[in-house]
Amino acid sequence: MKIVRWNSDTAAGTPEATACAVAFDAFGPPEVLRAVRVAVPLPGAGEVRVRVKAAGVRPFDAALRAGRVPALPVTFPQCPGNEFAGIVDAVGEGVAGVAPGDELIGWNVMGCYAERVAVSANQIAGKPRAMPWDEAGGLSASGQTAHTALRALGVGLGDTLLVHGAAGGVGSLAVQLARTWGARVIGTASPGNHDYLRELGAEPVAYGPGLVERVRRLAAHDVSAVLDTRGGDAFDASLKLVGDWRRIATLVEFDRAKKLGALAVRSERSAARLAELVALWERGALRVPIRARYALHNAAQAHRDIEYGHGRGKVVLMVEVAA
Ligand SMILES: NC(=O)c1ccc[n+]([C@@H]2O[C@H](COP(=O)([O-])OP(=O)(O)OC[C@H]3O[C@@H](n4cnc5c(N)ncnc54)[C@H](OP(=O)(O)O)[C@@H]3O)[C@@H](O)[C@H]2O)c1
Repeated sequence: MKIVRWNSDTAAGTPEATACAVAFDAFGPPEVLRAVRVAVPLPGAGEVRVRVKAAGVRPFDAALRAGRVPALPVTFPQCPGNEFAGIVDAVGEGVAGVAPGDELIGWNVMGCYAERVAVSANQIAGKPRAMPWDEAGGLSASGQTAHTALRALGVGLGDTLLVHGAAGGVGSLAVQLARTWGARVIGTASPGNHDYLRELGAEPVAYGPGLVERVRRLAAHDVSAVLDTRGGDAFDASLKLVGDWRRIATLVEFDRAKKLGALAVRSERSAARLAELVALWERGALRVPIRARYALHNAAQAHRDIEYGHGRGKVVLMVEVAA
């Protein structure tokens, strides 16, 4: 998968055609994000170029901006963003079945906080016309993470799944997927989000001290699988609640998971996985709850929101661009 580095990847753009994007020139707080103009990328062979309408914001983006993702080298100015939705405006050589005007959902490793992205045609799925742009922009990355983790756990009928951080971007989608696949779901959230979790189909429980006892009051010893989006105390509680640690999937506690035989899950993205999520949306089995929408140039505020660490569903940047 191509990692977007502007200096080289956008050099082929028509020099006079520029587009707006948000980037950072140094690691630091949200204020390092600034609007820049970059060359509009030309779609290479096998790529499509998209006029972005919405781009999801994730904790990963904030971690990257803060310099906490050393495994992923960045080239300044670096544009963050891993998921988008938009309208095709150019198609590269060898791409079949996609045409200008098509509405798409997709992902990229960085580069999505922008008016235009050029991505592989293997990193997209068609967007239903009825799907709002904000939901479409926030579906791809978090949806695929939730899907990857629940498939790795084999969650289905007969399971009682505990989701730590159930109100968050990944958690909100995981709750719905697990319910669709027949599981009973218990989700942790602060009390103010309990009604929200009920609406998604989960039985809410407050996180924090006493969590194990509260979950046992709801499910005795029946918790059969866990999705941990939090780590720390949440991971500790999971070890007490599930007998078979191979049925604990964590998105964050990788070292301990590997030592203890739990699943350390990294999102595995594919066009087929994304298309399955879109199909579930079309069936009414999945929604992308939106926590907040910000204009592209307000990306710093979106990062503050994400770093606050509380809220329901996804934070999304809305990108308005001239046709
Ligand atoms: N491994 C991977 O491939 C992968 C992929 C995606 C994400 N991740 C990681 O997964 C984590 C979650 O991502 P996200 O997008 O869902 O984040 P998010 O949307 O920012 O999650 C915020 C949620 O966390 C909840 N929360 C805060 N403190 C909590 C606690 N102590 N216990 C339980 N829940 C708590 C909040 O609930 P309240 O508002 O009710 O407090 C809020 O709903 C992040 O660390 C992210 O980096 C990993």
